[in-house]
Amino acid sequence: MTKTKWTENEIPDLTGRTVVITGAGRGLGLITARALARAGARAVLGVRDLERGRRAVAGLPGRFDVRPLDVADLGSVRAFAAAWSGDLDVLINNAGVMDIPAARTADGFDRQTATNYLGPFVLTNLLLGHVTDRVVHVTSQLHRQGRIDLTDLDWRTRPYHGMAAYRASKLAVVLHSLELQRRLDAQGSAVRSVLASPGIARTGLAAHSRSDIVNRVPFLTNSPERGALSLLYAATQDVPGNAYVGPGGLGGLRGDPTLGRAGKNGLDEELAGRLWDVTAELVAPRSPDAAADDGVYICSYGSPRSAGPDRRPATPPA
Ligand SMILES: NC(=O)c1ccc[n+]([C@@H]2O[C@H](COP(=O)([O-])OP(=O)(O)OC[C@H]3O[C@@H](n4cnc5c(N)ncnc54)[C@H](OP(=O)(O)O)[C@@H]3O)[C@@H](O)[C@H]2O)c1
Repeated sequence: MTKTKWTENEIPDLTGRTVVITGAGRGLGLITARALARAGARAVLGVRDLERGRRAVAGLPGRFDVRPLDVADLGSVRAFAAAWSGDLDVLINNAGVMDIPAARTADGFDRQTATNYLGPFVLTNLLLGHVTDRVVHVTSQLHRQGRIDLTDLDWRTRPYHGMAAYRASKLAVVLHSLELQRRLDAQGSAVRSVLASPGIARTGLAAHSRSDIVNRVPFLTNSPERGALSLLYAATQDVPGNAYVGPGGLGGLRGDPTLGRAGKNGLDEELAGRLWDVTAELVAPRSPDAAADDGVYICSYGSPRSAGPDRRPATPPA
């Protein structure tokens, strides 16, 4: 592990750069957006509640652009991506929920899986042609205990368990980063896929959780500002593709941002490739209209492992 004592003051000048942060109306996403804008970036906040998002950044120094985005609704994800034009330097997939009660989205997906993994998977694929630098995926140390059921990614046949669904979704995020980086490398792309884990930060994330872990173990927790440092480090520092950035102390839960390593299950290349295929099938546009909006068959981005029709976007990123 490479230890760093890193603070927000070391964020380089980001003037002229554009960053999208999902779920940025509060919590770690808001802190991250504010810090990036302070450093000169145009911070585009993808939020469910536009008014609240605007209020959260009103009067603050920097350039903000607050746009509607519900990552659990693929229609909203497609609309956000379709409205995008120009370069996007960094996409930060931050929006997330933990241990919420069982619920289905408008598309019929398990809400927790859709919010934490399926929506960000689609958003990433749709925006990737614009991305010039990197995609940051926000995961959790709990991915290490995650189990992926490729036959039931979406909790249709198994009894739903809120924390198991959270752990699985955060493992899926880690595997998504691994396979995305492999596809980018195979294309000779300079774009990086990077993971950020905040450790445990005192935000509203545990609001639904019966485990109440954040309040029970204060000695293990970070302030929200310190938790966001992992996202900021992953978004702005020169880290290798598929780097795992998280707190360096106490089991990766607390401390300064450090370059670490995902859990063994998050480094399984074969599982990552199979998960990509299963996910692509699950989120494939169901209507001709949605497929036309996507322009390309969104999830075949990059080079597939197995032989088959090449449906890559016409203009892959440089
Ligand atoms: N805090 C921690 O200890 C911790 C640890 C590991 C990983 N993480 C990860 O860090 C990320 C940020 O969490 P947080 O701690 O900042 O929690 P938070 O304070 O609860 O914030 C979550 C954010 O995600 C947004 N969001 C939820 N569902 C959304 C949807 N469908 N579409 C768009 N935005 C949505 C929320 O927006 P609304 O205001 O509209 O609800 C909110 O802005 C999550 O991915 C989480 O899993 C956090």
